[in-house]
Amino acid sequence: MSVVEAFNVSKRFGKIIALENVNLSFNNGVYGLVGPNGSGKTTFIRIMLGLQKPSSGRILVFGKDPFYSHDEVFSKIGYLREKCAFPKWVTGIDYLRHVAKLKQVDLDQNVIHHSVVKGDFLERKIGTYSAGMVQRLGLLQALIGDPSLIILDEPSTNLDPLGRVEMVKLIQEIKRHGGKSIIVSTHILEELEQICDFIIVMDKGKIIAQDTLGKFIKSFSLDGTLVNAYARIMGGAQV
Ligand SMILES: Nc1ncnc2c1ncn2[C@@H]1O[C@H](COP(=O)(O)OP(=O)(O)O)[C@@H](O)[C@H]1O
Ligand SMILES: [Mg+2]
Repeated sequence: MSVVEAFNVSKRFGKIIALENVNLSFNNGVYGLVGPNGSGKTTFIRIMLGLQKPSSGRILVFGKDPFYSHDEVFSKIGYLREKCAFPKWVTGIDYLRHVAKLKQVDLDQNVIHHSVVKGDFLERKIGTYSAGMVQRLGLLQALIGDPSLIILDEPSTNLDPLGRVEMVKLIQEIKRHGGKSIIVSTHILEELEQICDFIIVMDKGKIIAQDTLGKFIKSFSLDGTLVNAYARIMGGAQV
């Protein structure tokens, strides 16, 4: 059984069709979810998390319907939201302790001393954080409890260049330990190229391509880069 299995998942918001007959399955490995703004990436992620219910179709996460078994499924997933919002009046470290308590796990010291967290900002109140610090805190809380499914929705947003390099290193490190499904939605294809095993391209709520990274590049790219393959499949300008 796959970690995530989606069968003909569709989602409508009034007249907007956010997802149309999406069939996907995720197992071990790093999956890159790419597509223009509004192509349905976040909606699909929210459905995987049980935060939204599909209009039609079916999804199983760890063999359960995430909408009806929300608490059970959600507690096994590490999730970095697209737009992180944390309480401003607590310190980062207190927030992480709070998340660990909710997940009923110990706050692994390896998590807090991870290389993405340079500096002592965790001791400060979140209200004083820069956008990049908020993003780093978001990443750390996603890793608490060593979840086997990690979903990162635009993890590099707001990170400075070094932060992005650290992010790539971190995902590579998690990947090296193996045994995890990591789903990363991003617009930064150069980063994705360094970390992902599989690529899924969405457009207007549909999956328009999915393959291993190597085969996808081989099939579509003229210069061996993911950016070029993506531009060609989207019918855009050659880059
Ligand atoms: N709660 C909502 N209510 C109405 N429309 C929504 C809602 N969430 C997403 N949408 C719409 O669904 C489409 C897909 O959005 P989204 O999943 O956020 O795309 P992406 O993450 O790929 O940018 C967009 O047209 C968006 O405006
Ligand atoms: Mg999104």
